Amino acid sequence: MVGKSLISINDYSKEEYLRILDLTAEFEKKPSQNLLHGYVVATLFFEPSTRTRLSFESAVNRLGGKILGFADANVTSVTKGETLHDTIKMVQNYCDLIVIRHPLEGSARYASEVASVPVINAGDGANQHPTQTLLDMYSIKKTQNTLDDLNIFFVGDLKYGRTVHSLLMAMSKFRTTFNFISPDELKMPNEYKLYLDSLGLKYYEHKDFTDIISHADIIYMTRVQKERFSDPIEYEKVKNAYILRNNMLENTKDTVKILHPLPRVNEINEDVDENKKAYYFIQALNGVYTRMAIITSILGLK
Ligand code: CP
Repeated sequence: MVGKSLISINDYSKEEYLRILDLTAEFEKKPSQNLLHGYVVATLFFEPSTRTRLSFESAVNRLGGKILGFADANVTSVTKGETLHDTIKMVQNYCDLIVIRHPLEGSARYASEVASVPVINAGDGANQHPTQTLLDMYSIKKTQNTLDDLNIFFVGDLKYGRTVHSLLMAMSKFRTTFNFISPDELKMPNEYKLYLDSLGLKYYEHKDFTDIISHADIIYMTRVQKERFSDPIEYEKVKNAYILRNNMLENTKDTVKILHPLPRVNEINEDVDENKKAYYFIQALNGVYTRMAIITSILGLK
């Protein structure tokens, strides 16, 4: 882990996931430590973000480090034609670690091949979002007291939603049963289903979830990713395919938790927010502790 980039959730082993989750619990108990004193972390966001960028920055600030970077590539020399290659070659001189979000799949891997410092992928197109996955796993373990043998429902945009792709890969190491609920246009891509087949793991596909969520341990809602559609009419057709409402949770397990990587649009009605089964805002808070664990592990400070 030390000195290594984190680009795909598959860059870490099961043991490394568990190590990060244990460390996350330590940071949750004691978040203010001066471990990053003298370190500089760059956050390069070529795509919009609220949680990921700010939780990375909060993590670094709380650990006594310094942050530089941008939240909008339009204020950088990218607008003058500077390439990603050259941007990374410059930024590596100014920091100890680069966090990058970029709309192009594979861009974070490319940045890690160019950079002399470790790179963390904060989301590359519809591909991967590994730090989100680790915070999702932390949220699952914390609320279910285990990661093993759970029944997880993924609901919504399973085609373009990078968070479900990364989470599926990681949870496949814990004998998870998956339920995929999506419209035909947004089904889980075949490559992920073939991956589960190769491991002998069970998954079920559905178009509706109202009658079946009583079996769920985790209901992982997702936003339909408007920005990934080339045709706005196609987006309009599916944008409100699933809306979770409070009354739909009546017959669900007492222990079920609703997760969502956020931002939400319409897919979770606000009447769910006060239900004790709603966990998405705490999930986002867990992102600060998880990112503390990831950064300090990569920098060899923990
Ligand atoms: N979950 C997540 O990636 O949120 P942001 O797009 O706000 O960073």
